[in-house]
Amino acid sequence: MKRRDFLDWLFWISGTTVGAFVLYPVVRYLVPPEMPEAATRRVNAARGDELAPGAFKIFPFGGEPGILIRNPDGSYRAFSAVCTHLGCTVQYRPGERMIWCACHDGFYDLEGRNVSGPPPRPLERYDVHLAGDEVVVEKAQTA
Ligand code: FES
Repeated sequence: MKRRDFLDWLFWISGTTVGAFVLYPVVRYLVPPEMPEAATRRVNAARGDELAPGAFKIFPFGGEPGILIRNPDGSYRAFSAVCTHLGCTVQYRPGERMIWCACHDGFYDLEGRNVSGPPPRPLERYDVHLAGDEVVVEKAQTA
């Protein structure tokens, strides 16, 4: 191989490599990969014996947090834990029996309705049922 051919080959390989390193992130940004968690409709949120009555748990539901609350009678209720004001994660206050957002002191009742503070809408409510020893949380079917 002549010196000139070798330098042409080296230049072509270097240019192609640099081009790939520049183009790959641009293409990934413009064509994002499928996000399977975005389509999550059902998760095992807790074990059946995990939460005492009056306790709560934040659990991952797809790419967002959910909140699972165990009522004093042992039943469960679950909601999206994303505050409808600016998206902070809410928590449960068992003494007041309210769901509370610490960011701007927003309150929701145990039906998920926004009752005071800045949240403009109720929390999304999820269906809860037991499957064996697991507490299963599911997004309600939409028509
Ligand atoms: S983000 Fe929850 S009250 Fe503002």
